[in-house]
Amino acid sequence: MSQKKAAKPAAKKPAPALKTAKTKVAASSTKSHMTENRVFKPSAEFSKNARISSMAQYKRMYEESIKQPDKFFGREAKELQWTKPFSKVLDWKCPNAKWFTGGKLNVSENCLDRHLNGPRKTKAALIWEGEPGEKRVLTYQQLHREVCRFANVLKRHKVKKGDRVVIYLPMIPEAAIAMLACARIGAIHNVVFGGFSAESIKDRVVDSGATLVITADGGYRRGSVVPLKKNVDDALKGNDTTVKTVIVYRRTCQDVHIEEGRDVWWHRELEYVDAHCPAVAMDSEAALFILYTSGSTGKPKGILHTTGGYLLHAQMTCKYVFDMNDQDVYWCTADVGWVTGHSYMVYGPLALGATSLMYEGAPNWPENDRFWRIIEEYAVTIFYTAPTAIRAFMKWGDEWLKKHDLSSLRLLGTVGEPINPEAWMWYHNKVGGGKCPIVDTWWQTETGGHMITPIPGATPTKPGTATLPFFGVDTAIVDDLGKEVGTDEQGKLVIRKPWPSMLRGIWGDKKRYQDTYWSEFKGWYFAGDGARRDKDGNIWIIGRIDDVLNVAGHRLGTAEVESALVSHPSVAEAAVVGRPDEMKGQGIVCFVTVKEGIQTSRDLSDELKKHVRKVIGPVATPDEVRFAAALPKTRSGKIMRRLLKQIAAGEIIKGDTTTLEDINVIAQLVSSGED
Ligand code: WT7
Repeated sequence: MSQKKAAKPAAKKPAPALKTAKTKVAASSTKSHMTENRVFKPSAEFSKNARISSMAQYKRMYEESIKQPDKFFGREAKELQWTKPFSKVLDWKCPNAKWFTGGKLNVSENCLDRHLNGPRKTKAALIWEGEPGEKRVLTYQQLHREVCRFANVLKRHKVKKGDRVVIYLPMIPEAAIAMLACARIGAIHNVVFGGFSAESIKDRVVDSGATLVITADGGYRRGSVVPLKKNVDDALKGNDTTVKTVIVYRRTCQDVHIEEGRDVWWHRELEYVDAHCPAVAMDSEAALFILYTSGSTGKPKGILHTTGGYLLHAQMTCKYVFDMNDQDVYWCTADVGWVTGHSYMVYGPLALGATSLMYEGAPNWPENDRFWRIIEEYAVTIFYTAPTAIRAFMKWGDEWLKKHDLSSLRLLGTVGEPINPEAWMWYHNKVGGGKCPIVDTWWQTETGGHMITPIPGATPTKPGTATLPFFGVDTAIVDDLGKEVGTDEQGKLVIRKPWPSMLRGIWGDKKRYQDTYWSEFKGWYFAGDGARRDKDGNIWIIGRIDDVLNVAGHRLGTAEVESALVSHPSVAEAAVVGRPDEMKGQGIVCFVTVKEGIQTSRDLSDELKKHVRKVIGPVATPDEVRFAAALPKTRSGKIMRRLLKQIAAGEIIKGDTTTLEDINVIAQLVSSGED
């Protein structure tokens, strides 16, 4: 989508289509996906001790979950602690699902209080390591106490059930404490990733109508301090938001501005409260959190998750997919600002009473072996990370691994983007020592938890496929008319039945919820991904087929980056596309036309990169800015993205970033085929 009208008219004369090579990296990875046939079965030893130990058992359970969801989920949900039992498992009127209606429960009670009556009371709930090297362990009892105290701080500041609280914290235990404290009193948290800018915070504060923000003075990243409080100050400048209070945790101890009457210190507030805070019984369908994520158009949308179904799915996937138990030390490397941090660092593992490890900083600080050092030191048994990180470790070299004893590991997981077979093999052999099953888990912010994934003690895997649907997930791969495509044919991935942790809406925008997810195919959820199924039934995710980028596992809308670019005074029009990137999966390439009288230069290109970084945050920093005389359009005025993608991938013309490209020339050549 372009943000402004182009000055130049679209090409008039149709001409023969330009011959182009196939997209390089994408094609080669798809090709290796298509020919990948190595099969890895779980070892007999792993299967023997796993909760699900055979394909026959998986199939039996899957069949029941699809054919008798009431029975299956009704039974699984009994493993949660309900204050009031539910009367009905599912009430479904597309697109509105209600799970476990009539039931009441509290998420923080399920994650904390219920573990205090037995040996888990003194077990580590959270193990934390700061980037500079500090260590903290919080037992279930200690975590419970901190959550109760902080919940009382929130109450002191008039936070009530249903109020929205923005959390903008580094990866410190206080992030989990703040989330659980909100859940305890029925406030809805909205965690904003620490890599987002002041403007992004403001958008989220305004859209969610938050009354309170929780932040820290700063956080550590690769040896330097991220100025979190300063970003919050900038976001709240002008005082035109609903925010009344900002609670500041002291982490990095640098000087920060304290706004009288608005800002208070976390540690001081604790002096006014006690540790007694009963959990509020919430309706199963009460909102638990909002988390913003990018779509193909407009600003990020607030994905809404609710209480009972979400918690059940988070707990159940930790149980079956990670096969987590009391002896495990589990480490998910995701930031708490993404859904993975919500479901698989905080809620799922704690609901199950497991030990969850949290690390604040970068994987290559102070050296490239930081992750391996942590695995060795804490004897991590289950490790969950992203393909982009695995590719970085591969590049840094095996010698970093060899320094450490990784033999405690028994299960590995990946998430965020398709994993290329080379990275899968390296992960399997070098990190897992050839003995650990790998669960490649496909899911989304919207799905709340794993959707397509191997079951580690049962599913034979191949490098690069997320394999089979999880319980209750009814997947299909269809063409544009909704007809299932054949084996090995590519189509759109849909989910034909509601599942417990599905999103319940987009905050404040019913219509967008319906339009985005439920309109492409009536009655089915459309995920935005392309996929194919092989002859063994394994699902291979190809990636997004909409205008959403996946950069190092981070989701970004091309429209968002375009809108950031045109907010710069020199820019007339912008179109943003992804280009295959060996390390990050995708890189961001921006095609820009400048306003009359503006000179293009390398300085301007650098300035635009900085500008996008400032508007959205470091995660959105463009890899390349290319100036063009005009953007290629179809006769009906649509930007020819396919063409721009090919140019960005270097298939059509290769130009210096600072030279002005007359894309119109190429546009004229190919425009006949695009309308
Ligand atoms: C998109 C969702 C789920 C938490 C992290 C990302 C891609 C996610 C996989 C995987 C291939 C994957 C999809 C999806 N994706 N996991 N295992 N294999 N692709 O959540 O930011 O909501 O992004 O990430 O394209 O649609 P998200």
